[in-house]
Amino acid sequence: MIDTKPYIEKISAAKTVTELGNITQELFGRKNGVITLAMRELKSLPDKDKKSHAKSLNTAKAELNTAIDEKKAELTGASGDTLKNTDNIDVTLNLPQEERGHLHLIPSFIEKVEEVFGRMGFDTASGPEIENEELNFDLLNFPKDHAARDAQDVFFIESDAPEDNKLLLRAHTSPVQIRYMREHKPPFRAIFPGKVYRKDADATHSPMFHQFEGLMIGKDITLANMKAVMTTAIRELVSEDVEFRFRTAYFPFVEPGLELDMRWRGEDESSREGKWMEVVGCGMTHPNVLRNVNIDPEIWQGFAFGFGVERMLMIKHQITDLRLFFQNDLRFLRQF
Ligand code: DAH
Repeated sequence: MIDTKPYIEKISAAKTVTELGNITQELFGRKNGVITLAMRELKSLPDKDKKSHAKSLNTAKAELNTAIDEKKAELTGASGDTLKNTDNIDVTLNLPQEERGHLHLIPSFIEKVEEVFGRMGFDTASGPEIENEELNFDLLNFPKDHAARDAQDVFFIESDAPEDNKLLLRAHTSPVQIRYMREHKPPFRAIFPGKVYRKDADATHSPMFHQFEGLMIGKDITLANMKAVMTTAIRELVSEDVEFRFRTAYFPFVEPGLELDMRWRGEDESSREGKWMEVVGCGMTHPNVLRNVNIDPEIWQGFAFGFGVERMLMIKHQITDLRLFFQNDLRFLRQF
């Protein structure tokens, strides 16, 4: 005969499903379960005892199974009244909001740039931040004595590179145009976002900042296409009603060359007009640049532009000092 009492107590004291599983195993395990063994022993009992033993064993079995099932339902919260039976979870309690990290506003803006230009059919590509003079200047049609090559403006890198083709931290994303045109056959359109480096530091300049270059080459691409693409991008990326103007300018790798300024009110809140801030250089790709990458300028033409990312963000969010982007002050970064 089996005394079920100690087992019933054990079952009701079980705190976890695993613990309950162990007790079940102890009782009903295929090899050594207490009940299993007792059932097996029935066979060897004298006939007169068999019936009564079988009956009481079946009663014990049923009792234990019920206790196990009830406990299981209690432990897994499957008994209907979930709230009462789970571990005292108060679903009405107001917990402090979980703090979540998010992308810094520059990479998150660049994701948006890729999306907006992606919708206009532009590919995205990148190039290295360490370039040489040939890619940063020569192939972009800069004359050897151009002022932009000055060591006062550019970070040159000491190396074994030849004196007339020194290594440097790229001063703009324009060298990626050359890399892209060497690897692709026109027609194409692509943007090249990334970091650039110049020896400048004040409220609107940082020695490291971000640009994205754009390039579109085809058989009949004109300045009108350039204006349409840039206007669409500015309206989507900065705002619908930002004021901007195109102005003629000179860059060796475009002809004609232009600059685009946007109205910026960040610096002086009291001035309603604000002032014009230069944000983009652009123009029609110079025939010499196309020749440098073996593209025939008699057949192909197109435009290029280089946007300053931080400046766009300053205008978009009325930020007064560009250096704030890189000081990692969470009170500033959390706002975006
Ligand atoms: N690379 C120029 C700069 O950093 C910006 C620029 C001007 C890019 C004209 C262009 C362009 O693609 O066509 O100042």
